[in-house]
Order: sequence, then structure tokens, then C-alpha cells
Amino acid sequence: MPRLALVTGGTRGIGAGIARALKEAGYRVVVNYFSADAVARDFEAASGIPVFKWDVSDFDACKAGIEDVRRQHGAVEILINNAGTVSDNKFENMDEAQWHRVLRVNLDSLFHMCQQVYPDMMANKWGRIVNIGSMNGQAGQLNQVNYVAAKSGMHGFTKALALEGAKHGITVNTVAPGYVDTYLMRNMPERILAKIIGKSPIHRLGTEAEIGHAVTFLVDEKSAWTTGSTITMNGGTHMY
Ligand SMILES: NC(=O)c1ccc[n+]([C@@H]2O[C@H](COP(=O)([O-])OP(=O)(O)OC[C@H]3O[C@@H](n4cnc5c(N)ncnc54)[C@H](OP(=O)(O)O)[C@@H]3O)[C@@H](O)[C@H]2O)c1
Repeated sequence: MPRLALVTGGTRGIGAGIARALKEAGYRVVVNYFSADAVARDFEAASGIPVFKWDVSDFDACKAGIEDVRRQHGAVEILINNAGTVSDNKFENMDEAQWHRVLRVNLDSLFHMCQQVYPDMMANKWGRIVNIGSMNGQAGQLNQVNYVAAKSGMHGFTKALALEGAKHGITVNTVAPGYVDTYLMRNMPERILAKIIGKSPIHRLGTEAEIGHAVTFLVDEKSAWTTGSTITMNGGTHMY
């Protein structure tokens, strides 16, 4: 039977691209989402990929959600921690709620989710965990102290868990995208979009499918030697 992959925040944007790429590659795939029921229903109907609703920032909700997935589909063998959120503000105006929400959804969620699937992966002596970081977590970004701190923390989490997981056949890696052509970018003012694209020698945004392709490489049986790594994908922006 094909391995089971779970993509958090997989009903739209980059997560949906990853879920589709994994399905195309022959994996069994399920996705999680948080609030947009209609988007989730449309995604499920169009892709045939089952959706599960819970908040990755809530440890108990992750526990219950994974038990539900396990009952219906079996143990999760491939976990893609993609769900994320932003709440931008100048540092002097950033309040405690903005700080904690972004840290909980983007970073605490890794602990919440990995804790649920790691025991099964250890027992099976095989597992793949891929965390979706961000170019901003590598380079820093104005008005995003919370988001950058969370995404930078993800790199430490990836490396530390990769060290522990190695003897159990579990790899842990990060993909750090630059700006990807999701619906959010489609609403961005032309002037800002032109500035972002101008920073890439390839002169375009990334695609959801390109991120999905990188994740598919990392979870492959033949990628067992790649762990604790970050794949940086930003159209070459990082070279400037
Ligand atoms: N877009 C970019 O250019 C870009 C660049 C670099 C990195 N990234 C990273 O890539 C990942 C995906 O970004 P995106 O732009 O594709 O995001 P998106 O379009 O905003 O989608 C986010 C997904 O995550 C889910 N989600 C949000 N909060 C959640 C929670 N607490 N519990 C469970 N699910 C939750 C959403 O579900 P609902 O819709 O149901 O709320 C949705 O399915 C994020 O980690 C982001 O930081 C994005």
C-alpha cells in the first residue's frame, strides 16, 4: 500500500500544491485545515483528497485530529508541516497576542504535530517530516519579528529532530520558499509585486507546484541521505 502523507494547511495555497504533487507521485494523501470550510469542501471535491479540520496551534486538537486520521487511514508516515499565518506590525506596535498567535501557529505547531506521528514513525523505522519555512526566516523582514522568529526557529527544530530521528530512519528537512504565486500575492499592489519580482534573476514568483516538487524529492525513499537540510527556493533572490 502507498505511504500515507498528511499536509497541514493543505486546502489552499502552497499546501494544496504540495498535496496535489504528492498524490500525483502516488502517495495516499490527507490534508488538514483550520477555518475555511467552503474552501476545504471545494478542494476535497476537486482533488479527491480527504480533509480534516483542527487547529495546529492546539496540542490536544492535534492529538485528536491525528487519532481520527489514524482510525480512517492508518499511521501517518509522511508529515508536511505547512500551515502558517502572519500578523505583521512594526515591532513597537506589535502586541502580545500577535506575537503568541504567530509563534503558536508557525512554530509550536511543529512540536504539536511531530509529537503525534513520531512514535509510529519510530515503530516503523521510517518517516519523513518536511517543514515549510520561509526566505524571510532566513533573511529577516520588516514588520515580521514574530514570523521571522518562528520560521528561524523552524531551522533549529529541523536540525535537532533530524539528529534524533536519524537512528530511527526518520528524516527531517525544511523547504524555505521566497514569494510564491498564491491567491495572497494576486491581491498585492502592482508596485510591490514588481519590486519583489525585480529582486529575482528569474523575474517571476514561484509556483505552488514547484514547492510540491521539492517536497516530493525530500519524502522519496531514495532521499534517505538528506536530513537536517534546507532547500532554499526563491528564484535566486538570496544571491543579491
Ligand atoms: N505564500 C508565500 O509566498 C509564502 C512564502 C514563504 C513561505 N510561505 C509559507 O508557506 C506556508 C503556506 O503558505 P500559503 O501562503 O500557501 O498560506 P495560505 O494560502 O494562507 O494557507 C494557509 C493554510 O493553512 C491553514 N491554516 C492556517 N492556520 C491554521 C491553523 N492554526 N491550523 C490548521 N491549519 C491552519 C489554512 O486553513 P484555513 O484556510 O481553513 O484557515 C490554509 O489551508 C506557510 O507556512 C507560509 O508561512 C508562504
